[in-house]
Amino acid sequence: MNAQDTPERRIQTAKERLGNQLVILGHHYQRDEVIRFADFRGDSLKLARDAAGNRDAKFIIFCGVHFMAETAAILARPGQVVLFPEPEALCPLAEQADLLTVESAWRELGAILEVERDIVPVTYVNSEATLKAFCGIHGGSVCTSSNARGVLEWARGQRPKTFFFPDQHLGRNTGVRMGIPLERMPLWDPRQDLGGNDRENIKTAEILLWKGWCYVHQRFLPAHVLAARKAHPAVRVWVHLECTQEVVRLADDAGSTADIIRLVEDAPAGTRWAIGTEGNLVKRLAREHPDQEIHLLSPTPNNCMTMNKTTMESLARITDGLLRGECIHPIQVPQDVAEGARMALHRMLEVRS
Ligand code: 13P
Ligand code: SF4
Repeated sequence: MNAQDTPERRIQTAKERLGNQLVILGHHYQRDEVIRFADFRGDSLKLARDAAGNRDAKFIIFCGVHFMAETAAILARPGQVVLFPEPEALCPLAEQADLLTVESAWRELGAILEVERDIVPVTYVNSEATLKAFCGIHGGSVCTSSNARGVLEWARGQRPKTFFFPDQHLGRNTGVRMGIPLERMPLWDPRQDLGGNDRENIKTAEILLWKGWCYVHQRFLPAHVLAARKAHPAVRVWVHLECTQEVVRLADDAGSTADIIRLVEDAPAGTRWAIGTEGNLVKRLAREHPDQEIHLLSPTPNNCMTMNKTTMESLARITDGLLRGECIHPIQVPQDVAEGARMALHRMLEVRS
């Protein structure tokens, strides 16, 4: 291999030379030029399981966003190194809650309730490791969009209330499916006293929803669903659970990334879809299922900008480093944070989804 080689050739060379010492994980929202090198592709739950289950590889390259690579590093066995090609690839949803603000909310709630008896904190996997550790320490769990219902049902079996962060939409959509009335799921706005609630609201709440959102999924609008149905009355509209409740209510159904992929794979030829999730994935589904008609729900492209940061070149820089004996951009999580987060992640992995 030499510096003039194409990124493709450099990555292939590293894969050949390192064999099963190297595993590349790729989230479904990655660019095509990256995902084709992934040994395992999946949604965040599957990749968390793949990372935890891989006992051979010394090096795990995680192509996704930062919280995913951090989760893989927390679940990795001692001696495994998780490398992250684009340190700037953060999830804007995950950045909407931080430990200080969540701890301050917990203290405010503590003035009204007996928090350790009354509330289970549950964080969406799209969150910093410190928040996962907070949940681990306070008897809570992590969830993904694939197992949110299972985890929220588990939480309700532990204590009467759940504090869910940072994605309000996943929490609300899941709560509605569990039959919880909307008025029992008040929003917690971290910029306001008591999250913008009065004491009565808090006392009757079943799930408190942190005011966070994913800009990619929140862009899908009720008008898009109506327009898709008007254009083709037989269209099947499927959206991700990070979309708003108004969009989910109008869609035929909603689910996780994995649910959407499974549904398309199982559909008969000729099925027409309008899908409300990340653009790279919808384009790939359309290409892989030419016998179906698969469209993005919105008229304009809707890619996750940070998922798109990882390129073949940035992956090749990491594999070049490994061939020189260098670990570029390793993910490091302080031990105390990793221990707390691991508790919460293991609770999640034990819940049936
Ligand atoms: P999944 O859990 O469906 O992979 O979702 C992760 C994500 O970031 C969705 O926007
Ligand atoms: Fe985060 Fe949304 Fe991008 Fe998923 S699609 S990584 S939630 S910003």
